[in-house]
Amino acid sequence: MMEGTRDSLESDGSGNEQPPVPTGPTGRTAAWKALGGRYALLPLRLFLGVTFSYAGLDKLADRHYLAGRGDLQSFYSQTLAAKPHSPVGALLEPALHAPTFFALLIAFGELAVGLGTLFGLWGRLAALGGGLLSLTLFLTVSYNVTPFYLGNDLPYLMGWTAMLLAGTPYLSVDGYLAKRAGRDRARGLSEDAVRRRTVVDGSIAAVALGGAGLLLGSLTATFIRKKATPSAAGTGAPPTATGGSKVSVAAADVPVGGSATVTDPATGDAVYIVQPKAGQYAGLSAICTHAGCTVDPPKGGQLSCPCHGSRFDAATGAVLTGPAVRPLPRYAVTKDGDRLDLGPQQS
Ligand code: FES
Repeated sequence: MMEGTRDSLESDGSGNEQPPVPTGPTGRTAAWKALGGRYALLPLRLFLGVTFSYAGLDKLADRHYLAGRGDLQSFYSQTLAAKPHSPVGALLEPALHAPTFFALLIAFGELAVGLGTLFGLWGRLAALGGGLLSLTLFLTVSYNVTPFYLGNDLPYLMGWTAMLLAGTPYLSVDGYLAKRAGRDRARGLSEDAVRRRTVVDGSIAAVALGGAGLLLGSLTATFIRKKATPSAAGTGAPPTATGGSKVSVAAADVPVGGSATVTDPATGDAVYIVQPKAGQYAGLSAICTHAGCTVDPPKGGQLSCPCHGSRFDAATGAVLTGPAVRPLPRYAVTKDGDRLDLGPQQS
C-alpha cells in the first residue's frame, strides 16, 4: 500500500468505483479536494434549478404572458416580433397558431426541468429538457445579440450541457436510487429486478413531483396572475396600412407621456406613436435593438424591455440602460387634423 492512500477502489454505493481516498495529513488535503470535485456542480445545479422553477412560475403569474394577440408583451406578440430576426423563424409558425398551448408548454416545461434538477430526479433528462429550452430561446431571442456574450441563453445552454454530462448523482433522488440499487445487488438481487425496482420507484417519484409542479403552477396561474388590463399599448390588433393607405391613429388616442400602437407596413413590426411633450409627436419602433423583444409602452419617460432590462428614452429612443447599445429606430409622425400619420422610418 502507498503511504497516505488506501490502495483499493471504493464504492459510493451507486455501483460507481471511486478513486482511492488518501489518508494522513497530506491525504486530508487531497480528501477535501476530492470532496470539492464531487460537489463541484452543486452550485450550478442549484442555480439552474431555482432559476428555471422561478422562470416557469413567473410566466404563469404574468398577466401579459397568455394575453394573446392584443397584448404586445404576450407570448404571441413576442414570438411574432422574434420571428423575422430568428434563423429558425419558419419553425415558430406552430407557436403562432397555438400560442396558449406553446406558452403553457414552455412555462410548465421550465418548472418541470427546474424541479427535476433541484431534487436530482432523472437529472440528465431534466438537463436535456433545460438544454433544449435554452437552445430554443437562444435561436429565437438571443441570436442577434452583439456581442454574443451579452445574450443570456447561451451560458444557460452551456450550463445544461455540463449537467447533462455529469447527471445528478449526489444529494439527489437519483443518488438515493443508485445507492439502494448497489445495496440490492450486494444482497444478491438479480440485475433485472434491481433495474425494475429503480425504474418503478423513479417513475413514482416523477409522477409525485410532476403532480406537485402542476398543482403549484395551476395555483400560481389561478390566484397570483392578474387579468391583463387594457392600456395605451392597445387591445386588439394595432392599425396597419392596407392597399397603400396611410397608417394613422386619432390624436386623442395618444396622451401626453403615453402612446398608441400601430404597425409598420414595411416590416410588420409594432411602432409606438408617442407624445413625450404636449404637441410633440414621434414614432418609435417597439422592437428592442438588443435581441428583438417587444419593449413595454412608455412609462415615466422611458420604454423598458422585459427581456433583459434595457431602457430607452421615450422621446428620442436613445439607450438609457443596456445591454442594448443601439437606439430604437424612429419614424416620422405628422399631424393631419385630428389624426396622426405614421411616416417612413428615419433611423
Ligand atoms: S431583448 Fe434584451 S434587453 Fe431587450
